[in-house]
Amino acid sequence: MPSLEEELFPSTPGKVKIDRTHTIHRQFHRCFASTSTMFLWALFLIALTASYLSFQSFVDTSSKYFTASWGGIQWEKQVRNSALIRRPAGMSVLVTGAAGFVGTHVSLALQKRGDGVVGLDNFNSYYDPSLKHARKKLLADHGVFVVDGDINDARLLAKLFDVVAFSHVMHLAAQAGVRYALENPGSYVHSNVAGLVTLLEACKAADPQPAVVWASSSSVYGLNSKTPFSESDRTDQPASLYAATKKAGEEITHTYNHIHGLSITGLRFFTVYGPWGRPDMAYFFFTRNILQGKPITIYRGKDRVDLARDFTYIDDVVKGCLGSLDTAGKSTGSGGKKRGPAPYRIFNLGNTSPVTVPELVGILEKQLKVKAKRNYVEMPGNGDVPFTHANVSLARREFGYKPTTDLQTGLKKFVKWYMSYYGYHQHGKRV
Ligand SMILES: NC(=O)c1ccc[n+]([C@@H]2O[C@H](COP(=O)([O-])OP(=O)(O)OC[C@H]3O[C@@H](n4cnc5c(N)ncnc54)[C@H](O)[C@@H]3O)[C@@H](O)[C@H]2O)c1
Ligand SMILES: *[C@@H]1O[C@H](CO)[C@@H](O)[C@H](O)[C@H]1NC(C)=O
Repeated sequence: MPSLEEELFPSTPGKVKIDRTHTIHRQFHRCFASTSTMFLWALFLIALTASYLSFQSFVDTSSKYFTASWGGIQWEKQVRNSALIRRPAGMSVLVTGAAGFVGTHVSLALQKRGDGVVGLDNFNSYYDPSLKHARKKLLADHGVFVVDGDINDARLLAKLFDVVAFSHVMHLAAQAGVRYALENPGSYVHSNVAGLVTLLEACKAADPQPAVVWASSSSVYGLNSKTPFSESDRTDQPASLYAATKKAGEEITHTYNHIHGLSITGLRFFTVYGPWGRPDMAYFFFTRNILQGKPITIYRGKDRVDLARDFTYIDDVVKGCLGSLDTAGKSTGSGGKKRGPAPYRIFNLGNTSPVTVPELVGILEKQLKVKAKRNYVEMPGNGDVPFTHANVSLARREFGYKPTTDLQTGLKKFVKWYMSYYGYHQHGKRV
């Protein structure tokens, strides 16, 4: 449900601006043909450019619909207000990927208990950006401001740390998805490797340094066949570029812990699902296709073995994220120098009970009251692993992590949200 504002304004305003300047340039070209008036035109051009630039800098601070930019007094005020702590001994958290699925839920949970939260997201179009803008609006309604920017923008990050002394960074911005890496490998390097380093550099330089909690992935277990997956198991056989960049992130964060004293907690999420979820994930597009009467493709492994996932409900993952933030020890560096050892931790956050994909479809059929048109296909070699199962005893020991939502209960909540968000009546008909 895009808001009225989002329907009136294009989500890629840059395009509109480029078209307009293009026309202006063409008009200038025609007039320059007469050389006698060239000097006057040049003066006029300089004056026009100057007034255009000053108008632009005014527009920058007043509306994001003209240029996707940041900065200015008004912007800083929004950042500062959003970061205000409203409980004793609360924290101020920079949440990257805040307009994403997990980021939205974590930001809301932090805000609700009185912590200060500032979001950062580049609203990229890997999946429907209108869903990201709707999540941003949900956050805005709760007083959480999401900055429109990229984690690769070092100047923006420095500015944010300049405006707010964040005690924690919850780093969730990433290029997610396993299969998309075959189409756009560069996006994984951009966000999960280069972006991560830029963010860690900003954290290193900040004074005080924040504690960093970030999302790795269960996919780092790759071709590992020992189950359940424990944190001490080998993770050196990734099956996808996505997994490889998450594994790289675990090693990169380790160096920042070792050299600069950053407190690091890496969380290996296991197939997170729920309301406001990601349209590129199977449970989400299965629901869409079933409701639209379209067939769904169900992958099967070798010898027709069903794929299975340790589906983890979003509320359980949020509890794990908050538990991690609450128990993250302090970073020890200052001025970019390490002053003593800081904690480096890695935790699985899963549900501990894998469910096969056909079982997942069965649950959806019951809740949607529509029979799925199932299309079984042998899994192509695109990076998916056949099976995931988390051992979460480390997280339980460290911060009492205990998942409590089974797949039926969680999917019921997802379906309820889906029907309402996309405007369905109870009986599957679109409004
Ligand atoms: N959902 C899962 O099942 C799952 C499983 C394992 C790991 N993870 C990890 O958890 C984190 C959150 O996942 P999610 O499911 O919420 O995904 P998501 O795609 O909904 O959220 C990620 C957000 O980050 C933003 N982003 C991407 N690149 C950016 C950049 N360079 N600068 C600024 N913003 C950027 C995107 O616009 C998006 O809103 C990711 O790191 C993901 O890899 C998720
Ligand atoms: C789960 O992990 C814990 C801590 O890492 C370990 O001691 C235990 O043996 C693991 N359990 C199983 C069943 O692998």
